[in-house]
Amino acid sequence: MTPRIIVETYAAMGAMMDRYSTLRKITRAFLCNSLAIAAVAAALALLPAATPTLAADEAPSAADQNCLGCHGSAGMEKKLADGDVLPLHVAADLYGKSVHRPNGCASCHTDVDPTAHPPSKKEIKSARSYAIAANEPCKACHAEKFKQWDSSIHAALVRNGNPAAPTCTGCHNPHTAIKGAATKIEQTPCQNCHKDIFTAYLGSVHAKSRLNSAASFAPTCSDCHSAHEVKPISLGESPAAACLGCHAGALESHKKWLPNAGLHFEVVSCSACHNPDAQRKVDLMLIDSQAKVRGTEQIGVPLFDASTRSDGNGIDAQTLWNLLQALNRGDAAGKTIVHGRLTVRTGPQAHQLTAKSAALSDCRTCHRQGSEAFESVTISLVGPDGRRVGYGANTDVLSSAISINSVHGFYAIGGTRIILLDILLILAILGGLAVPIGHLFLGWFFKRFGYYHPHNGHSAGPQGGDGPKAA
Ligand code: HEC
Ligand code: HEC
Ligand code: HEC
Ligand code: HEC
Ligand code: HEC
Ligand code: HEC
Ligand code: HEC
Ligand code: HEC
Ligand code: HEC
Repeated sequence: MTPRIIVETYAAMGAMMDRYSTLRKITRAFLCNSLAIAAVAAALALLPAATPTLAADEAPSAADQNCLGCHGSAGMEKKLADGDVLPLHVAADLYGKSVHRPNGCASCHTDVDPTAHPPSKKEIKSARSYAIAANEPCKACHAEKFKQWDSSIHAALVRNGNPAAPTCTGCHNPHTAIKGAATKIEQTPCQNCHKDIFTAYLGSVHAKSRLNSAASFAPTCSDCHSAHEVKPISLGESPAAACLGCHAGALESHKKWLPNAGLHFEVVSCSACHNPDAQRKVDLMLIDSQAKVRGTEQIGVPLFDASTRSDGNGIDAQTLWNLLQALNRGDAAGKTIVHGRLTVRTGPQAHQLTAKSAALSDCRTCHRQGSEAFESVTISLVGPDGRRVGYGANTDVLSSAISINSVHGFYAIGGTRIILLDILLILAILGGLAVPIGHLFLGWFFKRFGYYHPHNGHSAGPQGGDGPKAA
């Protein structure tokens, strides 16, 4: 008897039993027992190798064995209202080895009444709605993990109706969970959904170190992102924070060859140098300078949508300037500023970290005119669901005087500044005096060419009378 037939039998039986309620108990007991016995016999016949490995302390309780008498049959499934199927099979041998065996099926399936099941009275709309509801019982025993997950981007996405975001069972199979399994690289649940990033990570110096030695403390996904409180922009404003917890000596060691290493750590993401093959870009992050958090976008009010749509090349300097002007009107003066960061273009590229011998040490990769690193620009902020929202921008936002003058504290990277950096570079190498001299020089430079400065009241940017007004 195939499991398919079991399901159909019970579905038919359920309808029948509603009509012949007096016969209900007798029929049910008979059918259940005979089917359960048949299913156990089938399971034993199909799994001769698995059964002997079930040690005495892996044997499910008698009550659970009753459930497994039916649910241990491979291929058992149920048709749902939406046409989807819910697989009903629970592998008895894996369940026997799992952390939850001592708890018993009933500890989670509190809604299944063994004296009246099957059939199931529950109407199940979809496999997804079933899974979401079935995760509620986890809370009773794993309250802390539940709370952490509840505050994650994944939970926010589940609440928003994203069908792909994980509940507990998106990452843990409650029937087969084994102690510590989720901490192993090969079994990390993240790979099921973030495959491209997982593949990139596998080639990284961290994965190699971890796979080479069981003693390595090199990070897996959850060491950098956490497993339950996964936050979208988990690494905050500074790209360095996630790394320096383990690489506490990195700033000191980079200072030996990299002038102004502290500034580089702030404005260049580690992966921009430690993934030498990556494509780089400049990300201009809108920052709320008072709350010291990234700027956010409200639901249904995209800041740039219209402008990016009207201009295929993305946001230009004037549009950015207009936006900042609007955001910084009145009481909000000077609140929204822009921080530039040189980083890699894609998620996978952020994870392909190489050993130090391959890292980028050639200053001219970035400090030369026409550097590839400045050919791609995005403007980013935090979207309504907490994830990063990035808009494409024209490269002119880096070099245009109107950008330099957009807001207090806006530092343009690129354009003229790159030429200046060539000079700074020589100074830095000669005497380590780059910073003070550089900034004095810049001040002079911008005044010399009549560029507007927010503090001195000129309005003589190359865009003429349209220039910004002092806030
Ligand atoms: C006699 C065979 C049999 C036994 C014993 C049995 N089940 Fe079921 N189970 C089924 C069938 C058939 C369905 C599909 C029911 C339906 O569609 O009405 C089902 C459905 C389920 C479902 C899916 C959700 C739902 O409500 O449809 C869960 C969970 C479940 N059973 C758990 C258990 C547990 C726990 C036990 C032991 C206490 C158990 N079952 C014992 C046959 C069995
Ligand atoms: C630790 C809690 C827990 C225990 C113990 C547990 N289950 Fe489940 N079970 C769940 C959750 C949660 C789901 C929903 C999984 C999903 O779809 O994401 C589920 C789903 C099911 C389903 C529906 C089909 C499926 O696999 O999604 C069946 C049938 C089932 N369980 C039977 C059993 C039986 C039989 C036992 C005991 C041998 C058992 N369960 C033990 C939590 C548990
Ligand atoms: C009745 C209590 C109970 C419920 C309900 C329960 N668990 Fe557990 N869970 C436990 C116990 C006990 C352990 C073993 C803890 C240990 O050995 O340290 C455990 C262990 C785990 C582990 C293994 C962790 C590790 O060591 O790697 C995971 C994963 C897990 N549970 C997930 C879930 C999920 C998901 C649910 C809900 C579907 C759930 N649990 C429901 C009691 C429960
Ligand atoms: C996005 C994937 C993901 C989701 C969702 C998730 N977990 Fe985990 N969980 C992990 C990983 C990975 C580990 C391994 C330990 C670690 O890295 O913290 C883990 C570990 C655990 C542990 C063992 C922790 C320990 O310290 O021994 C328990 C228990 C657990 N999870 C329960 C849950 C429960 C309950 C939920 C739902 C509220 C849940 N998990 C949701 C990925 C996830
Ligand atoms: C069941 C599928 C699933 C699993 C498993 C899963 N995720 Fe996710 N995750 C998603 C979806 C869907 C999104 C939102 C869409 C996107 O950004 O890809 C998301 C988003 C994220 C984000 C935010 C991305 C952004 O745009 O800012 C991070 C970080 C993340 N996940 C990390 C993890 C980590 C770490 C794990 C393992 C512990 C994990 N995820 C496991 C489905 C999953
Ligand atoms: C060494 C620390 C580290 C490890 C290990 C790590 N990540 Fe990341 N992850 C990062 C950094 C850094 C970013 C870029 C964040 C940023 O720029 O704001 C990131 C970004 C992400 C994003 C968002 C990507 C996007 O397109 O915006 C996801 C999803 C993600 N990681 C998932 C994973 C998964 C899955 C794993 C395991 C295979 C993993 N990460 C391992 C540090 C790490
Ligand atoms: C959980 C601790 C941990 C975190 C977090 C971490 N690393 Fe590592 N990292 C290690 C370990 C351990 C090694 C391997 C050392 C070895 O095997 O020589 C390593 C190796 C490296 C190396 C190669 C060093 C060499 O000598 O070749 C680089 C580069 C590196 N990590 C960069 C980063 C970056 C960038 C981040 C943040 C995105 C980061 N790490 C986050 C622990 C960590
Ligand atoms: C400007 C490019 C650049 C940036 C930015 C950069 N690195 Fe490096 N890093 C290098 C180079 C080149 C080496 C090799 C130096 C050597 O061989 O002495 C190196 C060496 C290392 C090492 C091995 C030596 C040590 O300190 O233990 C680690 C770890 C490391 N970097 C981590 C980081 C982290 C974490 C960040 C981000 C906070 C970062 N790096 C940012 C270029 C960079
Ligand atoms: C991955 C790209 C990259 C590499 C490689 C790189 N830099 Fe930089 N550097 C930057 C960026 C971006 C800035 C910040 C420019 C700004 O703020 O306008 C910067 C700033 C500087 C500054 C400070 C300028 C100031 O305003 O204070 C000096 C000096 C400097 N770099 C020298 C070097 C030297 C010397 C090397 C090689 C040993 C090097 N850089 C390698 C990207 C890089």
